[in-house]
Amino acid sequence: MFKLLLIAALAVVAICQGYSPPHNSTNSTTFTNPIINEGADPWMFRHGDYYYLTYSNNVNVTLFRSKSLTDWDGAESKLVFAPPPGMNYSTDLWAPEIHNLDDNWYVIFTADPRNDSPPPEIEMWCDYNCPAVHHRMFVVEGKGSDPWEAEWEYKAELDTYDQFAIDGTYFQHADQLYHIYSCWHRKYDGWPANLCITKMEKPWMVSSPFSERQIISVPEYAWEKTPFGRASNDRLSSNEGPQQLTNPTTGQQFLIYSAARSDNRNYCLAQLELVGDNPMNPGDWRKHPYPVFYQNPSESAYGVGHASFTTSPDDSEAWIVYHGMRDPTNGWGARTIRAQKFGWNEDGTPNFPKPGYGPYEVPSGQ
Ligand SMILES: *[C@@H]1O[C@H](CO)[C@@H](O)[C@H](O)[C@H]1NC(C)=O
Ligand SMILES: *[C@@H]1O[C@H](CO)[C@@H](O)[C@H](O)[C@H]1NC(C)=O
Ligand SMILES: *[C@@H]1O[C@H](CO)[C@@H](O)[C@H](O)[C@H]1NC(C)=O
Ligand SMILES: *[C@@H]1O[C@H](CO)[C@@H](O)[C@H](O)[C@H]1NC(C)=O
Repeated sequence: MFKLLLIAALAVVAICQGYSPPHNSTNSTTFTNPIINEGADPWMFRHGDYYYLTYSNNVNVTLFRSKSLTDWDGAESKLVFAPPPGMNYSTDLWAPEIHNLDDNWYVIFTADPRNDSPPPEIEMWCDYNCPAVHHRMFVVEGKGSDPWEAEWEYKAELDTYDQFAIDGTYFQHADQLYHIYSCWHRKYDGWPANLCITKMEKPWMVSSPFSERQIISVPEYAWEKTPFGRASNDRLSSNEGPQQLTNPTTGQQFLIYSAARSDNRNYCLAQLELVGDNPMNPGDWRKHPYPVFYQNPSESAYGVGHASFTTSPDDSEAWIVYHGMRDPTNGWGARTIRAQKFGWNEDGTPNFPKPGYGPYEVPSGQ
């Protein structure tokens, strides 16, 4: 009897542990979206024989690796960084990215203290409300050439002048490193969220004084506002999730960013092109007047944004990795991670597909 009970108990445990939502998106010729059933702000890169992926999990920075761009079911995972409690970067870890700079690895991520709950004497200064008032950017360094074997260590906060900063990324141009991030005009604005740029001396050190900080994009078009075309104020209007994208043939530099609001169906990707030679000069950036990647209601693909870019295993194709929702009424919790191939237009700008679920052909060489 005891033996039977034990067997039954073990079976229940085995079933519970073995359960995961039916998800087998990749075979030898095709794959379907999503490639990961939950998650937001995906950041993928290819290095050696592997694809590496990280995304927001709020708690820590976890790195995954897989030999396949589209199949993450059996991916290995590794903890890169878990913050100690009681620090300004202990909670709400968002949008981690991992970059190879100066022969080391750098995780750049957003975090805040106390789970986004500023005391009333701080929040009272904001025009609407401003739960994100303490979000800042931080850097963790991984020494070594292999991201899987690197020794990771907390390095520094990036100077954003004690103001709101999220979704920071590195931008490289003509041997200069820049920090581009989502920012407010003033300390207690709440909205709009804009894109700011500062110069960096090292991957963990901003060199610009506040007077040199420039705002290179503000939500100005109807589609950058939420609800669409909002006329009365800037509440919820956001520019965030900036990513450098280089056309490998022409060398044109783009900054692809997310616009509108991340818990909303209108969330989309927008494009700035560096048309001059100085990223610190707002006039050297040209904004495309329409979103470049946006909801596709005919396939129930909504709220598509916060992308990163990689290439097929044989290097011949460009791929976008992004998050989106099937059900736009459930906000942030509905986001899943997707991937699609994209191309280039004759004028050198990226030509993104309509977001959808596939099946699509697997990446070339996979
Ligand atoms: C998942 O894919 C593998 C390999 O293509 C296949 O053997 C397996 O039967 C699939 N599982 C499900 C649940 O579809
Ligand atoms: C791969 O999956 C697609 C879509 O589910 C299916 O149509 C196709 O026959 C499969 N191919 C192989 C080789 O299993
Ligand atoms: C990192 O956070 C994730 C998401 O909350 C959690 O599942 C995982 O166990 C954490 N990893 C470690 C090593 O604490
Ligand atoms: C933590 O953040 C607060 C508010 O932005 C700031 O005044 C304080 O100096 C920060 N602490 C450290 C150790 O950086």
